[in-house]
Amino acid sequence: MTYLGVDYYPEHWPKEKIPEDLEGIKGLGANIVRIGEFAWHRMEPEEGQFDFSFFDEVIEKVKQQGLKVMFGTPTATFPAWLAKKEPSILSEDEFGNPRVFGGRRQYCFNSDAYRNHAAVITRKLVEHYRDEESIISWQIDNEFGHEGSDMCYCDQCHNKFQDYLEEKYSSINALNDEWGTIFWGQTYNDFSEIPAPKPTVTTHNPSLKLEWARFRSASLNQFAHEMTRIVQEEKGAHQDVTTNVSGGFFGKWFDHAENVKLMDYVSYDNYPVWGGLEEPVSPAEIAMTHDFNRGLLNKNYWIVEELMGAQGHDVIGYLPRPNQAKMWSYQAFAHGCSNMLYFRWRGMTQGAEQFCYGVVDHDNVYGRKYKEVQSLFGDIKNYEHVLNSEIQSDIAVLYDYDNIWSWRGQIQSKDFDFNEELLRLYRPFYNLNSRIDVIPADRAIDAYKVVVVPVMQVMDEGLADRLRAFAERGGTVIFSYRTGLKGKDNNLRLGEVQPGLVRDLVGARIEEIESLTKAHALELKGEGEFASVPGHISVWRDLLVPETADVLYSYQDQFYSDYAAVTKNDFGEGTVYYIGGGLDEAALDVIAEKVVEDHSIGYEKSDENVEVYRRETEEGSYLFVMNHSDEIKKHGEIDLQPYESKIIKE
Ligand code: GLA
Ligand code: ZN
Repeated sequence: MTYLGVDYYPEHWPKEKIPEDLEGIKGLGANIVRIGEFAWHRMEPEEGQFDFSFFDEVIEKVKQQGLKVMFGTPTATFPAWLAKKEPSILSEDEFGNPRVFGGRRQYCFNSDAYRNHAAVITRKLVEHYRDEESIISWQIDNEFGHEGSDMCYCDQCHNKFQDYLEEKYSSINALNDEWGTIFWGQTYNDFSEIPAPKPTVTTHNPSLKLEWARFRSASLNQFAHEMTRIVQEEKGAHQDVTTNVSGGFFGKWFDHAENVKLMDYVSYDNYPVWGGLEEPVSPAEIAMTHDFNRGLLNKNYWIVEELMGAQGHDVIGYLPRPNQAKMWSYQAFAHGCSNMLYFRWRGMTQGAEQFCYGVVDHDNVYGRKYKEVQSLFGDIKNYEHVLNSEIQSDIAVLYDYDNIWSWRGQIQSKDFDFNEELLRLYRPFYNLNSRIDVIPADRAIDAYKVVVVPVMQVMDEGLADRLRAFAERGGTVIFSYRTGLKGKDNNLRLGEVQPGLVRDLVGARIEEIESLTKAHALELKGEGEFASVPGHISVWRDLLVPETADVLYSYQDQFYSDYAAVTKNDFGEGTVYYIGGGLDEAALDVIAEKVVEDHSIGYEKSDENVEVYRRETEEGSYLFVMNHSDEIKKHGEIDLQPYESKIIKE
């Protein structure tokens, strides 16, 4: 069964409106609604007084329309009475200001008071509906850690951070040694002396910053796991458990794979444009977000919030053009989304999200967007076997949150952006319409032909050894700059020539480095088969001296023309590329095409801004073709109108 529907907020509307709304939703061709994720007060108006009668009635009406239900556990928006009774539940910013009641998710993951109350409402709710056959899924909380809610500097967090360190390090001196607190005379005599990294003069110790990030992740994920376990204990056998991942996941202070590991499937909230953005993010970036979510549990996933209307709190921006939101939906289905709900049925007339437009606007007219969703649901239903087919990729892009947090603590180049640097190496393979997995670096890589390792400055022996074995067996590894610079303690290693643990794989050493900017792009000299391929480097550069590697590009500016910028090394049966800086797309496209051809990896040529995604099923191949542009484009003999999408059976 493919579930298609909308996010519905019955508590936002007069009761008599609900049957009409559900009929309208049914008319879309929907078979599911998501409800309840922000309705704690409606279910527990006073402490300990639980009343589910409102949702009992709603669910009866939902069932009359033959719809199913995803129910959200309402811990993202706690009641005002709880904040008044337990002000310690409120999270604090780095200046010690509590985040007052009135927004959402402004709770502290280390507040025992909050965890207790959240546990009670979650257990009561799921217990109440365990036998409700229409409820097929529970969504835990809503967009964990989004909007800065993954960071808190309150005393509870500070104390638990010190406990976390005392548990992790055998002694205070073990910590002093590992962190190098001898620097600036910061040696600790006791764990109780260790600060939370609030603002200070200059900056904090890199190891402290990384441990704080890990602690933030552990705090949030412990809460998520606690809530997940409660739902799993109380739920009916016919009910699954998920949570909705928000965008900007590389900018969060928690490990997402760890967050969802106990759940049945991942859900994602796909907003290619939000708030004041004047343009949607690029087609490649949207595609990457889908491959990231599919990679979290290595299986197809749901989208429980797909954008249809313009969105924003106090500022809104770009309006998706006719069929553009529909096209983004096809793109999502292509990349492994197997069930989809649109956000939201109707725009709310009151509250902070008056300008988060839905499928139906405040005028309650079933207009363009209603028809766009209806046509999408009508078409996609015919491809259930494709949507449920597994996606096999030959290419993996690795990421590691320790590495991401290390970069966030010291960006080194003022134009450094981890998301951009991962996309820099992802995009050339996306441009070839190859299938790509975006996965945590601790996952098995044996099944792949190509492993891409963007700016992995924090690396341990384990990863280096796995990549070495992978290349030896014939795989291609693509590294970019600052690879292997630091250990998991976020420190450099005395006497180590860079790129450290993988110098043999790379077949070159780094003699000097320079932080550049985006604007400060250096023209490179192509060597050998790249002599006629222009290349430019920006943001950062490693100055490489080849040892066994061939040079693909070298620098040509004063003093540095003897140094290599991009190298290729034959290693065992395999090949290792080292991209020594922010290399531009044109050069990377040529490298990527050589790599996929060397490995006979499937790829599809297409017009610019036309994405083609091949899905293999027992019944043969299906091509999802998406025109991401407002121009008429071609795919083979087929004309594609602006933002048109097609599924073609081969
Ligand atoms: C998020 C949230 C929703 C709502 C929408 C608005 O994704 O999960 O509750 O805020 O954005 O676009
Ligand atoms: Zn806190």
